[in-house]
Amino acid sequence: MSTVLVIGASRGIGLELVRQYREAGDRVIATARDDAGLQRLRALDAHALKVDVTDPASVSGLAWQLDGEKLDVALYVAGVYTTAGATTPPTREEFDRALHTNVLGAMQAIPQVAPLVEAAGGKFVFVTSGMGRIGGVGSSFGWTYRVSKAALNMAVVAAQHDYPQAILAALSPGWVRTDMGGPGAPLAVSDSVAALRKTIASLKAQHKGAFLDYDGRPFESW
Ligand SMILES: NC(=O)c1ccc[n+]([C@@H]2O[C@H](COP(=O)([O-])OP(=O)(O)OC[C@H]3O[C@@H](n4cnc5c(N)ncnc54)[C@H](OP(=O)(O)O)[C@@H]3O)[C@@H](O)[C@H]2O)c1
Repeated sequence: MSTVLVIGASRGIGLELVRQYREAGDRVIATARDDAGLQRLRALDAHALKVDVTDPASVSGLAWQLDGEKLDVALYVAGVYTTAGATTPPTREEFDRALHTNVLGAMQAIPQVAPLVEAAGGKFVFVTSGMGRIGGVGSSFGWTYRVSKAALNMAVVAAQHDYPQAILAALSPGWVRTDMGGPGAPLAVSDSVAALRKTIASLKAQHKGAFLDYDGRPFESW
C-alpha cells in the first residue's frame, strides 16, 4: 500500500485520481478548499484536508499537518484556465489568479512537501499542460494559462536539483472532459487518470525533471 497525496482534488482530474488510488487500495490524503469538496473526498475514504493553494499560509498548514509522513506519490493538480489571447491585455486579477494557482501554489508546496517525498524515495508529479510548451506554439489562445504552465514546468525541472532522492516530473493529462476541458474533449477523465497512474508507476531515475504526456511520451520540445 502506497501513501498518495493529491493537492487540488475537489473535482475533475484530482477527484478521479483519489478515486482510482483508493480503488487500488492506497492510502490517500487529498485537499479541497471548500466543504462540498472535502465531503466528496471523505466519501471516497480519503483523509481530507482544507487547502487553498493561492494562500501561502494554507499551504504551510498542509505541510504542518503532514509532518512525519512519507509520501510515495504526491500530485499537484490544482489549476485554473484562461482563454484570452495576446490581443487583450490580461487584467491583474486574471493574471494573479492563474499564476498564483498554477505556479505560486506549486512553488510553495515544493519546499514543504518534496522532503516528505524524498523520505519515501517517491515521485512528485505536477499536472501541467501541453499548452505550456514553448516549441511548436500554434496560437496565443489561453495566453496567460500558457505562460503559467511554462513557468510551472521550469519550477519543476529546476527544483529537481534540490531533491535528488525524489523524482519530480511535469505530466500533461491530455485534453480531458472535465469542467476545465469541456464536453468536447476527446479523453474521459477515467482514461486520462488511468494512463497518468500507469505513467507515474513507470517513472524511473531517468525521468527526473521530465515533461511528459499522460501516456508517458516525452514532448519533443519544452
Ligand atoms: N481538463 C483538461 O483538458 C486539462 C488539460 C491540460 C491540463 N489540465 C490541468 O489539469 C489540472 C486539473 O484540471 P481539471 O481538468 O480537473 O480542472 P477542473 O475540473 O476545473 O478542476 C480544477 C481543480 O483545481 C482546484 N483549484 C483551483 N483553484 C484552487 C485553489 N486556489 N486552491 C485549491 N484548489 C484549487 C479546483 O478546486 P475548486 O473545486 O475548489 O475550484 C479543482 O479541484 C489543472 O492543473 C489543469 O490545468 C487539464
